[in-house]
Amino acid sequence: MTDSDTPTQTPTAAPATSGRVVLSVRNLSTSFRTDHGLATAVTDVSFDLYAGEALGIVGESGCGKSVTSKSIMRLLPEHNTRYGSNSEVLLGSDNLLKHTARQMQEVRGNRIGMIFQEPMTALNPVFTIGWQIDEALKLHTSLDRHQRRQKGIEMLKMVDMPSAERRYDEYPHQLSGGMRQRVLIAMALCCEPEILIADEPTTALDVTIQAQILKLMNELRARTGTAVLLITHDLGVVAQTCDRVVVMYAGQVVETAGVSDLFHRPAHPYTSALLKSIPQSGARRTKGERLPTIDGLVPGLFEMPTGCRFADRCEFCEQKCRDEQPGVTSAQPDRNVRCHFPLNPDASRSTHESA
Ligand SMILES: Nc1ncnc2c1ncn2[C@@H]1O[C@H](COP(=O)(O)OP(=O)(O)OP(=O)(O)O)[C@@H](O)[C@H]1O
Ligand code: SF4
Ligand SMILES: [Mg+2]
Repeated sequence: MTDSDTPTQTPTAAPATSGRVVLSVRNLSTSFRTDHGLATAVTDVSFDLYAGEALGIVGESGCGKSVTSKSIMRLLPEHNTRYGSNSEVLLGSDNLLKHTARQMQEVRGNRIGMIFQEPMTALNPVFTIGWQIDEALKLHTSLDRHQRRQKGIEMLKMVDMPSAERRYDEYPHQLSGGMRQRVLIAMALCCEPEILIADEPTTALDVTIQAQILKLMNELRARTGTAVLLITHDLGVVAQTCDRVVVMYAGQVVETAGVSDLFHRPAHPYTSALLKSIPQSGARRTKGERLPTIDGLVPGLFEMPTGCRFADRCEFCEQKCRDEQPGVTSAQPDRNVRCHFPLNPDASRSTHESA
């Protein structure tokens, strides 16, 4: 493997109110065996998720957000996926990348819940909602049949499902998109996981329903203390939901910061470009506002430059950027940036002004 095995020198940024780390991703590199050779989709990604926080992962399409979340959950096809030799996904002291399929089954749903983008495909159309919740409870609890039904209905009520008893016995096609997503949230939370990973959970929903689902996730997080890893294109969702944000570009983490710092004082030129290209920039985004486009293209998996991966699109690019890949620096405990010349003097020692 190439640079995917390069050790990361700086661990993830910690939140201002530093708590207990519940999930630690260290030097995660994920490659796929393809007809054209080994394609590294995620390179040297490191971050920590703290108890009870909502951490956003944001970045343009194809930058490796889903590969990161699927690597954590070991949902990528094992036969053609390779992880870097020093990559770790630590849940407590367990490295999930070393778990057997059986051990992962225990982790999924039990310790880590998941919600994905498309609620219809995540539910089996031939079984009732209740049957599907029941399967999750059977797998992860010792409740008897009657208790499981009670618990299932209780979970549907917790996610504000209208007419929960009736809906429990209905099929997925009888529910709206928003209701299906509520079912998936209920299923993901029914075993009270420490962590919920939500990959674009509201993208397929219309704006009003999106807002309701995000509100629900925020309320549940406040109530249950579940840490949330929220993957999204949408800076509006980040502003509404997250405490901290990991910005990814071309398979790497380029910035990690608290949400307010990120919106007000971006340190990486990519983050800054994302924010600048949104009309009416401000700390709070309008609901549903999407990640804007920046001139130029993300380099393909087989076209990664030797130096900075953002160089071709960066207005501050200098020769050093083309020659040397920037490492991760951290001048404050709660933010990291991968850039030779970070933008904000608060974020790192070197700045464009001083360069
Ligand atoms: N199983 C696979 N085999 C080969 N390449 C893959 C595989 N899965 C993902 N990729 C590639 O990895 C890169 C990252 O994909 P990923 O799905 O993580 O992007 P993303 O950031 O989630 O994008 P989006 O916002 O569109 O969901 C892409 O170039 C994608 O084509
Ligand atoms: S390293 Fe250079 S090219 Fe890359 S983001 Fe920083 S200033 Fe831009
Ligand atoms: Mg994705």
